[in-house]
Amino acid sequence: MDLLAGMIAKAKGNLQRIVLPEGLEERTLKAADIVLAEGIANVILIGHKAEIEAKAASFGLKNIAKAQILDPATDAKMSTYTNLLFDLRKSKGMTIEEATKLAQNPLYLGCLLIKNGDADGEVAGAMNATGNVLRPAFQIVKTLPGISVVSGAFLMFTNTPEYGENGLLVFADCAVSPNPTAAELAQIAVCTGQTTRSIAGFEPRIAMLSFSSKGSASHEFVDKVVEATKLAKEMAPDMQIDGELQADAALVPAVGQSKAPGSAIAGHANVLVFPDLQAGNIGYKLVQRFAKAEAVGPILQGMAAPINDLSRGCSVDDIVKLIAITANQAIGAKK
Ligand code: ACO
Repeated sequence: MDLLAGMIAKAKGNLQRIVLPEGLEERTLKAADIVLAEGIANVILIGHKAEIEAKAASFGLKNIAKAQILDPATDAKMSTYTNLLFDLRKSKGMTIEEATKLAQNPLYLGCLLIKNGDADGEVAGAMNATGNVLRPAFQIVKTLPGISVVSGAFLMFTNTPEYGENGLLVFADCAVSPNPTAAELAQIAVCTGQTTRSIAGFEPRIAMLSFSSKGSASHEFVDKVVEATKLAKEMAPDMQIDGELQADAALVPAVGQSKAPGSAIAGHANVLVFPDLQAGNIGYKLVQRFAKAEAVGPILQGMAAPINDLSRGCSVDDIVKLIAITANQAIGAKK
């Protein structure tokens, strides 16, 4: 995959500090070893130092010695992280005792490092459910200015070059927000356009998907997509966005021309924004299975710093890829 090779090269040229809270997890350690050996990122592992070192030695991982290891039991900055968490959450009722306990949780600590400027991004989830990875990220790192909703995009590498960008499309939201409002859906569209530019590396042509094309059906679900399209265009006048479109009208030129004549996107979309998480999650999995597409993601977007969640079934290679993607997001965020 040329795109990934490009991302790895970019990450090597501008090393970012990526925190891996699951420092004792076997695949995570093996991925960290590869990332350090190849110089893709600086790695911060969270966990008991002697235990991490013993585990690395038992797997024959020589490069873990280059990682920064943050041991919550002994780290000199723990009181800084605890106070930061308390300050961020006291208005929500958190006590200092609760903050002291939660700051020891590696998933909270990883986010506190980022918030304190001690790390540039995080990859976690090899042994934690999505909600447990996302909740501290939402509470501590929070969203970008002007964005209130985090979402998850997938790069879909299909074998159908007639669609998207030579077969590559970006789908969202497939991972995070179950039922976005029209305003949130507009944000998801704009964030996906930005991810497309910074990670997929092409100019987005965004289709706002529905079961209706340009008024062919009327329903409150369609109204939401129509409203989201209008709001997204206002938010990002420099982005090509159109809707509401059915998936075939978005992708197939002849269908696009007949269902949405005059639309510059219809028949030529390379970004598909789904109306809710059920559609997005089901949609990407169907394309992955039936079209044998490689689905890379979810790439979380809208967060103030990049944090990405692994599937618990991930491979070592998946983790290395996601670290490279996260590093690229961090580089993009600093521009
Ligand atoms: N974007 C930004 N902030 C959010 C979002 C969001 N999408 N959702 C919740 N938050 C914030 C809230 O504002 C709140 O902040 P506050 O405490 O500062 O007020 C905090 O996060 C907690 O909010 P809750 O509503 O209590 O959220 P909860 O913790 O219950 O759930 C979660 C959040 C876990 C992400 C939930 O939306 C979820 O489970 N989403 C689906 C994830 C999933 O299972 N995806 C499919 C699998 S992934 C795959 O297949 C690739």
